[in-house]
Amino acid sequence: MSMAGERWQVRTQRPIAYDVVKTPGLFAPESTALLDWGRQGGRRFVVLDANVWHHHGQAIRQWFGTHGIQTHFAVFPGGEAHKNIDAYQDLARALDTFPIHRRDEPLIAIGGGVLTDVAAFLAASYRRGIPHIKVPTTLMGHIDAALGIKNGINFGTSKNRLGSFEPPMAVLLDPVFLGTLPRRHLVNGVCEIIKLAIVVDAGLFDMLEQSGAEGITTAFATPRSRALLDRAITGMLAELSPNLYEEELSRRVDFGHTFSYGLEARHPQRLLHGEAVLLDCLVSSVIAAQRGLLAAEALARIFALVEHLGITCDTEVLDTELMWQSLLDRIEHRNGLQRVPLPTAIGGCIFAHDITRAELHRASTELLERLTPTHESSLER
Ligand SMILES: NC(=O)c1ccc[n+]([C@@H]2O[C@H](COP(=O)([O-])OP(=O)(O)OC[C@H]3O[C@@H](n4cnc5c(N)ncnc54)[C@H](O)[C@@H]3O)[C@@H](O)[C@H]2O)c1
Repeated sequence: MSMAGERWQVRTQRPIAYDVVKTPGLFAPESTALLDWGRQGGRRFVVLDANVWHHHGQAIRQWFGTHGIQTHFAVFPGGEAHKNIDAYQDLARALDTFPIHRRDEPLIAIGGGVLTDVAAFLAASYRRGIPHIKVPTTLMGHIDAALGIKNGINFGTSKNRLGSFEPPMAVLLDPVFLGTLPRRHLVNGVCEIIKLAIVVDAGLFDMLEQSGAEGITTAFATPRSRALLDRAITGMLAELSPNLYEEELSRRVDFGHTFSYGLEARHPQRLLHGEAVLLDCLVSSVIAAQRGLLAAEALARIFALVEHLGITCDTEVLDTELMWQSLLDRIEHRNGLQRVPLPTAIGGCIFAHDITRAELHRASTELLERLTPTHESSLER
């Protein structure tokens, strides 16, 4: 702190360091990985997804018992419909009745992206910030939602309208959780990997073509599909880590996150996050092709991958006006510019600032035609 004339200047930097660690068998009785963060023994407030509780609750309960940790389990339903202020308040009330040290008894969030977003927001705001550990249990969490420092809840009709940037103490990845994930949720995570592959990493795209289907069938239990996951995690962290606070607003990882917000917010019961993202990726790719930025062969390869992976898109939700309004909202979010990533090749993109409503409509129409069964032959071109 210094004073110059009539002004006091406050300047500081907050160092950020956290590890994303592969911890297979995290809740096997002999595992001690989770003991590396926070004080030995003591208390932990554990927020757990209800489906994770159902499939893995016994092992998790036993683990905390075996290691002599006094635990409060707050079981919380997953799904976008629960990512709201009521869930946040319910968890806050539960946390407030279970005293924990402010610095060395971290909150532990075990669940999908909805749970880790809500629980991390609670940790970021409770007593103005207590430490937290994320244990993602969905593919979406493994390759995206739990890796960064963003958290939040939906508010009004908008996604993630309330939230913060709060680094976790650690992110612990245990593939055992993927084994109980329904196929639709595996595919949901794969949609985010497709996003990354199209605009950032052509090699990852190749891997999706070669072993993506095997990953979905085996819950990423084979060496080839595990390698695919590792590459997706490495790629995502490489994009996130130099720009954790989003000082740079033109972000390649925002591919698929422009028109999808409106679709997902309007259809929370119908569309999963990754499903909405994929629709957005496809419409953005069609815009790029219609502009002559993306070669027809590359566009065909994208559609062929989606088909090869057995992903069916819910085209009935496509609505130009909704997607246009979503883009207008993103302009505010991106500080006045569209900054829409458009692929220029598999593995590369530019940022467009001049997409028009008519252009969006033309692209949605072509997308609908391409994804409608009667046009299946055109997907093979
Ligand atoms: N913070 C970020 O940077 C970031 C990034 C990407 C996505 N997200 C958010 O992530 C959310 C989507 O995450 P999600 O797809 O994980 O959804 P989710 O948390 O709702 O989980 C999906 C479903 O899987 C169930 N489930 C979780 N783990 C399971 C397991 N191991 N076995 C069986 N069932 C299990 C849940 O109960 C739920 O029904 C969205 O709200 C999105 O905005 C956040």
